[in-house]
Amino acid sequence: MEFQSEEHAAKLLNAQTHIWNHICSFINSMSLKCAIDLGIPEAIHNYGKPMPLSQLIASLSIHPSKTSFIYRLMRILAHSGFFSQQNTIENELETGYVLTDASILLLKDNPLSQRPFLLGMLDPILTESWHHFPTWFRNDDPTPFHTAHKMTIWDYAGSNPKFNQFFNDAMASDARLIASVVIERCKGVFNGLESLVDVGGSTGTMAKAIAKSFPQLDCTVFDLPHVVADLQGSDNLKYVGGDMFHSIPPANAILFKSILHDWNDEECVKILKKCKEAIMNKGKEGKLIIIDMVIGNEKRDDESVEAQLFFDMLMLVLVTGKERSEKEWAKLIFSAGFSDYKITPVLGLRSLIEVYP
Ligand SMILES: C[S@@+](CC[C@H](N)C(=O)[O-])C[C@H]1O[C@@H](n2cnc3c(N)ncnc32)[C@H](O)[C@@H]1O
Repeated sequence: MEFQSEEHAAKLLNAQTHIWNHICSFINSMSLKCAIDLGIPEAIHNYGKPMPLSQLIASLSIHPSKTSFIYRLMRILAHSGFFSQQNTIENELETGYVLTDASILLLKDNPLSQRPFLLGMLDPILTESWHHFPTWFRNDDPTPFHTAHKMTIWDYAGSNPKFNQFFNDAMASDARLIASVVIERCKGVFNGLESLVDVGGSTGTMAKAIAKSFPQLDCTVFDLPHVVADLQGSDNLKYVGGDMFHSIPPANAILFKSILHDWNDEECVKILKKCKEAIMNKGKEGKLIIIDMVIGNEKRDDESVEAQLFFDMLMLVLVTGKERSEKEWAKLIFSAGFSDYKITPVLGLRSLIEVYP
C-alpha cells in the first residue's frame, strides 16, 4: 500500500500509537500491583533516602535470576508518576528512587493507605467480569459480574468470606481517607444532629470516625448481615444487619457513602423512599448526606475526568449503578419526593450532597 503523503503516513502511525496505548493501558495497573505486591514502596520508604537500584534489588525477596528486570518495572512506574529519581546523597553521579505522593499513599503502614483498595479492585474475581462485557451486552444478565459469576457481587460476598473480607478492606481504606477529609472540611454537616445511620456502612470505618469526632451523635452502621455479623459497637455506635430495600433504621440523618452509585435509578428511588420514611420518623430537620461523584459539575483536568469515567464503567460492569451528573442526581432526588439539595464539591473526585425532605 502506498501512502498518499508523508502527512498521511504520520497520521496512521499516530493512530497506531493511540491504539497501542489503549491496548496496553492495563499494564499500568498490573505493573503497579506487582510493585505493591513485591513491597517496593516499603523498601524505598525504609531506606530513608534516595535508594539506588542495586540497593532496591538487594532488599527485595525475588529470585536471583529476576534481578535485572526490576529496572524495567521501575522505569514504567517512574513514567506513570509512582516513583521518581534523585541524586543520592553519597554520590552525585548516582541516582536513587524516591516515593511520590501517590506511592506514599500506597504504603502498607500509611494510616490512609489505598493499598487494600488497589489490591481489591485488581483482584481476578473483579477483573474477570471484563472478559464477559461483550457477552453481557448480548444477554439479559444484570451485570458482567453476574455473567462471570452467576450471582450479584453482594451475594458473592455473602457466600465467599475471603472476597467479603478483601472487598470490605478495600472499602475501609477509601472510607478512612474520605472520613478524615469530611470531618476536617465538612464538620458543619453534622451540627445539630442527634442520630445518624450509615446505610451500606460496611464494617463501620466512616461511622466510627464520625462517632469519635461527635460523641453526642448516636451512630448506626447498617449493612447486610454477612458484613456486620460479629462486629462490636461502642458507646455511641452500633451495628444493625438488614436490607435497605426493606427498611432503614430511623434517624435524623442518613449517610450514603459510595452506595447510590451502585444502583440504577429505579433501585435508588426505592432506597430513597425508604429513607424518607426513616427520616420523617425523627422530625423535619432530617437530611440525607450522600458522598458520591457528580459528573461534569466542575472544570476538571483530564486525569480526573478519566478517573470519573473509569468509575462509571466500574459501576456498569460490577453492579447495576452509574456515576451521575447534577441533572441526574436532581431527577433522582425529586422523584423520591425530596424537596431540595446542596452539593459541596470538596472531596476530590467526589462531592458531598445534602438532601432535604
Ligand atoms: C461500595 S460498598 C460501600 C461501603 C461503604 N459505604 C464505604 O464507602 O466504605 C457498598 C456497601 O453496600 C452494602 N449493601 C449492598 N446491598 C445492600 C442492601 N440491600 N442493604 C444494605 N446494605 C447493602 C454492601 O454490603 C457494601 O458494604
